[in-house]
Amino acid sequence: MLELKGITKVYRTVDVETTALRDVDLSVTDGEFVAIMGPSGCGKSTLLNILGTLDTPTSGTYSINGELLTGRNEKTLAAFRRRHIGFVFQSFNLVDTLSVRENVELALLYRRVKPKLRRTKVDAVLDRVGMGHRARHRPAQLSGGQQQRVAIARALVSEPSIILADEPTGNLDSHHGREVLDTLASLNDEGATVIMVTHSVQHADVVGRLVSLRDGAIVADESRRRRLVAS
Ligand SMILES: Nc1ncnc2c1ncn2[C@@H]1O[C@H](COP(=O)(O)OP(=O)(O)O)[C@@H](O)[C@H]1O
Ligand SMILES: [Mg+2]
Repeated sequence: MLELKGITKVYRTVDVETTALRDVDLSVTDGEFVAIMGPSGCGKSTLLNILGTLDTPTSGTYSINGELLTGRNEKTLAAFRRRHIGFVFQSFNLVDTLSVRENVELALLYRRVKPKLRRTKVDAVLDRVGMGHRARHRPAQLSGGQQQRVAIARALVSEPSIILADEPTGNLDSHHGREVLDTLASLNDEGATVIMVTHSVQHADVVGRLVSLRDGAIVADESRRRRLVAS
């Protein structure tokens, strides 16, 4: 259970002050699939970054399973992220000079996982996102949708319980966007909590909950019956 209470985020630069989030309360239960929608600049990425502890709120509290994360030092937060969170971004952020397998393996290198086990885990996760047959390719040899699935594999290899995706289909055409969405939906079926920022209303079909933001505030929060993904 993720719990944000009274979260406000103000960005201050020399001459401008922007309130990106105002008094946001949001609880997400384990195993939910949540979409966050709203116009550009309404605070979606800020909200996701706070959920991922990549950014800290100006005021308010964030806790997970009753444990307060707000105010913890960076070392503690980094350990929390490594253990619990997988990030997926709009730009896939793959290393062009490495193979698909090496890109995913990179996420395990600093965890002291033995090479043989590393290889087993990487291959398993690539199979899971349907990219096992492309393990030796370079990112540039893949479609955008395939690259994003590799990025999802990289996020998954450390077995996070929470996947945070910021416009994961933003750089994809609708066909490849759908593939990525199906992948996220099947991970959710297997038990992961998925929170996804999206600008596409069509994507709202596959989620169990739709949170709408305007000017930094939640203006709607609806549960919906999840439509089965055809794949
Ligand atoms: N690092 C930052 N410094 C200053 N302003 C920022 C920063 N990040 C975001 N903002 C501002 O906060 C608001 C919300 O941004 P963001 O969360 O990125 O919106 P969205 O993802 O919905 O497009 C915007 O007005 C944006 O310009
Ligand atoms: Mg954004």
